[in-house]
Amino acid sequence: MAVFGKTIDVIRETAHALMKVLEQHHQDEVALRRGISTSLEPLLARPDLLDWGVSRLDSHSGGSKILYYDPGVRITINRFPPSLDMAAHDHATWEALSLYRGRFKHTAYERVDDGSKLGYAKLNIIEDRVLEPGEFAMIYPPKDIHSFHGLTEDTWAVFVASGVPSPERKYFNTVDNTYIQRLKEDPKALAPKH
Ligand SMILES: [Fe+2]
Repeated sequence: MAVFGKTIDVIRETAHALMKVLEQHHQDEVALRRGISTSLEPLLARPDLLDWGVSRLDSHSGGSKILYYDPGVRITINRFPPSLDMAAHDHATWEALSLYRGRFKHTAYERVDDGSKLGYAKLNIIEDRVLEPGEFAMIYPPKDIHSFHGLTEDTWAVFVASGVPSPERKYFNTVDNTYIQRLKEDPKALAPKH
């Protein structure tokens, strides 16, 4: 894709395009996936994206910056070195990402137990992929659980979500079928391994 104009203009245009997609397709998973993925393409084509944004503290990643935020849509860019193995976690909403640099292993799950036993959760893998730059993944309720890690030191992904992030998440251990519920800011939140 040819790169024209200024990156700040592309960030603003991407946010507006995403808001339009969300307004039109927020209840249509297939259209939402397609719309968000397409809307992110001009942003991913910017070679200087890492020079933009402000640091974000409430993040699991090894470096996260907010490129755009309002109550309707937020766009962040996040670094995931291989040393950061992100355990399976839920969102209670959708989350989309496109890879900007590096290689990225992304696994999406559905919960298949009935939720009646506190601390117990059985997950099935519904998607397990290695993403290359420009490739897209998304989780959407009720299948809103994923785990991931970067496969190269210089792995960066652009994330898109809507609204205020939930401060509390479930973190799953997919080996012994357990979960804990923790505040996202809690450093121990990263503890469960899978
Ligand atoms: Fe997530």
